[in-house]
Amino acid sequence: MAIAPAPQSITSFADVQTYAAPAMARVNALIRSALASDVVLINQIAEHIIGGGGKRLRPVLHLLAARAAGYADHDQQDHIQLAAVIEFIHTATLLHDDVVDESDLRRGRKTANALWGNAASVLVGDFLYSRSFQLMVDLDRMRVMRILADTTNRIAEGEVLQLLNIHNPDVDEPAYLRVIERKTAVLFAAATRLGGVLAGVPAAQENALADYGMHLGYAFQIADDVLDYVSDAGTLGKNIGDDLAEGKATLPLIYAIERAPADQAASLRRAIETGGLDSLDNIVSAIRDTGAIARARDLAQVHADKAKAALALLPESEARDALGVLADYALQRDH
Ligand code: IPE
Ligand code: IPE
Ligand code: MG
Ligand code: MG
Repeated sequence: MAIAPAPQSITSFADVQTYAAPAMARVNALIRSALASDVVLINQIAEHIIGGGGKRLRPVLHLLAARAAGYADHDQQDHIQLAAVIEFIHTATLLHDDVVDESDLRRGRKTANALWGNAASVLVGDFLYSRSFQLMVDLDRMRVMRILADTTNRIAEGEVLQLLNIHNPDVDEPAYLRVIERKTAVLFAAATRLGGVLAGVPAAQENALADYGMHLGYAFQIADDVLDYVSDAGTLGKNIGDDLAEGKATLPLIYAIERAPADQAASLRRAIETGGLDSLDNIVSAIRDTGAIARARDLAQVHADKAKAALALLPESEARDALGVLADYALQRDH
């Protein structure tokens, strides 16, 4: 008699990836085929950024949310298509973001803007956006289109809001949170809400999935903004100090200004006004000494905990466990 396999539990990010791997293989195949264009430069740039990897976190979130909501995914395709749409939207925002942020390293590779220039990056970002709309329209579901149209519009607002805040040392925690909700958290929330939409769950469960995604998005972006000060380029695959270099006040710096002695606070404010990395070492010290890193991580933890709490409205399942693991991963990750 065959011995029953030991009950499997999903406790690490690697477990989540293994669990999602069969569906993600289908998503990645669709991503590849949907990139095709007879314009060579589009293929080159899209392949460069997509082929650079990335964690594929948002499509994984969508797949897990659909399954946790009870979507019978084995013989269906819509969740695969939506996962690809979500990754395309994310990738388009990265191409644009690296131009705006003047970043030259992404996913351990030189950025598209560093290699091909700003114009090419922006235009291929537009290609990915519009390709994502084509894929989305294929599904022919008005509710899905409305959610994604609203989401991409909010992301654009978030990026513009952030631009308005550049070099402004008066950006405080509420202003920072308004930006990260739009530029990052709404896409996480759409990814998870759409899992519930595909499954056709009642509004309360759909909203719980969206709350989970929104809080996860907050935690994820706060953690990203901490990593921008405490990681290293080799691990992160992005340059350290990018946010400061362009005069962007993120939570670690905002908290440091709040707690630093007056003269140090004044020099932190000047660093935001001028941008550049001349004083990066001093600023990293100030951020550490004032406890700003720990405090930012605490807020990320609050959001990760809220994300996990939202999952209580869903029935127990492996997919729900996996979503819980991702809430912790958002903070523990090193890239
Ligand atoms: C980067 O997102 C942009 C942020 C919201 C911080 P990811 O960290 O998910 O980027 P990839 O897709 O894994 O490269
Ligand atoms: C996230 O902000 C940008 C988007 C949501 C597009 P960041 O500027 O911090 O992202 P990275 O650090 O460049 O990936
Ligand atoms: Mg950036
Ligand atoms: Mg960043």
